[in-house]
Amino acid sequence: MRPIVIAANWKMNTTPADAGELARTIASRTRVPGVTRVICPPYVSLAAVRDALSGEDVGVGAQNIHHELAGAFTGEISALMLDGLATWVILGHSERRAYFNETDSLVGRKLDRAVDAGLRPILCVGEVLADRESGRQTGIVDSQLRGALEGRDPVALAAAGLVIAYEPVWAIGTGRNASGADAAAMADAIRAALRPLGWGGTAEATPVLYGGSVTSTNIGDFLGEPAIDGALIGGASLKPDEMAGIAARAGLTAAARGLAT
Ligand code: PGA
Repeated sequence: MRPIVIAANWKMNTTPADAGELARTIASRTRVPGVTRVICPPYVSLAAVRDALSGEDVGVGAQNIHHELAGAFTGEISALMLDGLATWVILGHSERRAYFNETDSLVGRKLDRAVDAGLRPILCVGEVLADRESGRQTGIVDSQLRGALEGRDPVALAAAGLVIAYEPVWAIGTGRNASGADAAAMADAIRAALRPLGWGGTAEATPVLYGGSVTSTNIGDFLGEPAIDGALIGGASLKPDEMAGIAARAGLTAAARGLAT
C-alpha cells in the first residue's frame, strides 16, 4: 500500500529565527496516524527546523541540490552538505525549471546525487497552461519523466523512495487548482509512463502527489482519488491552520488505506 505524504514547500520564506517555531507549531497540529509529513524550508533554516522537530516524526527536506557533489560552483549546495540536515529533497520544481533553466537531463543528474547521498527525492513534473489548453499535458509530463529517468536504475530509485509530484504550472501559486479527476488521470499517466522505462510493477508502488494551490478546502478533491497519494503544498504550508486541516483530511485517507495503526 502506498503511503500518504503531506510535504510542505516553504520556498523562499522564513528565516532561521522564525522557522523553528513555525515547524514546531505545524508538527504539533498535524500529528495524524498514518500520514507521512515532510517540511522543506530554505537551506539556511534546515538546522533550525531539524532541531525544532527533534522527537517529532516529521521529515526535513531541501528544495534543491546541485548536480555535482563538490567543486567550483559559487553559491551552490550539494547533496553531501545536507548530511545530518535533511533526508528528503525536492527536485525539478517548476520554479527551478522556469527561473534557473533546469532541464530534464539536469534534474536526472540531481536525482543521481540524491540517491547516492541517501536523500528521498520528490521529483516534480507538470505542464504549463498553453500545453494544458492544447491537450498536450500528458505528452509533456511523459517527456519530463523520460528526460529525468531514462537510463536510471528503477530499483535504486524505488529503493530511495522516489515520490513524483504532479504540479501543473498554471496551478502553482495561482489559487486555480486542477480538478481531482484531472490530477488522478495524470497520476495514472505518470505510472503508465514509468512502465516502459523499466519500472514494471514498481510503477504501481510509486507515490504520486498533487501540487498546485492545495488548501484545506480542496485537499479532499485529491485525496478522494485512489491514484493520488498526498500533496506538495506551497502557500498554504506556511499556515498552521491550513496544514492542520490538510493533515486531518489526509488522516481519513490513511485510515481508509489501512495505514493508520
Ligand atoms: P502552491 O505551491 O501550493 O503555493 O501553489 C505548490 C508548489 O509549488 O509546490
